Amino acid sequence: MTAPPDYAVTLEWEDGRTADLSVAGDETVLAAAEREGLGLPFGCLTGACATCTGQVVAGDLVHRREPRALKPRHLDAEYVLLCIAVPRSDCRVRVGAAIQRELVANPWK
Ligand code: FES
Repeated sequence: MTAPPDYAVTLEWEDGRTADLSVAGDETVLAAAEREGLGLPFGCLTGACATCTGQVVAGDLVHRREPRALKPRHLDAEYVLLCIAVPRSDCRVRVGAAIQRELVANPWK
């Protein structure tokens, strides 16, 4: 059996910082970021808390298991749970603690 390919994943923070990451096809984005010492927020590691939420800007990520913390409208808006998300192409992903706050509807907007 051949190993899955590595993908180039670019992480983008709200403050404009970016980081390029090589992610194996069977590796989660969060695990790859941890390996490289890039501090992404996380909690449960099972897809239940949404602490690790990112948003896909370009490319393809799939969830390894049911992303229980995301509603269908979040999935439609390309939000992903990075603790259970594995790449299927090179991608760009918005990351950081601010992303989770976007999931909660703001009554003042
Ligand atoms: S760490 Fe809880 S959903 Fe990813």
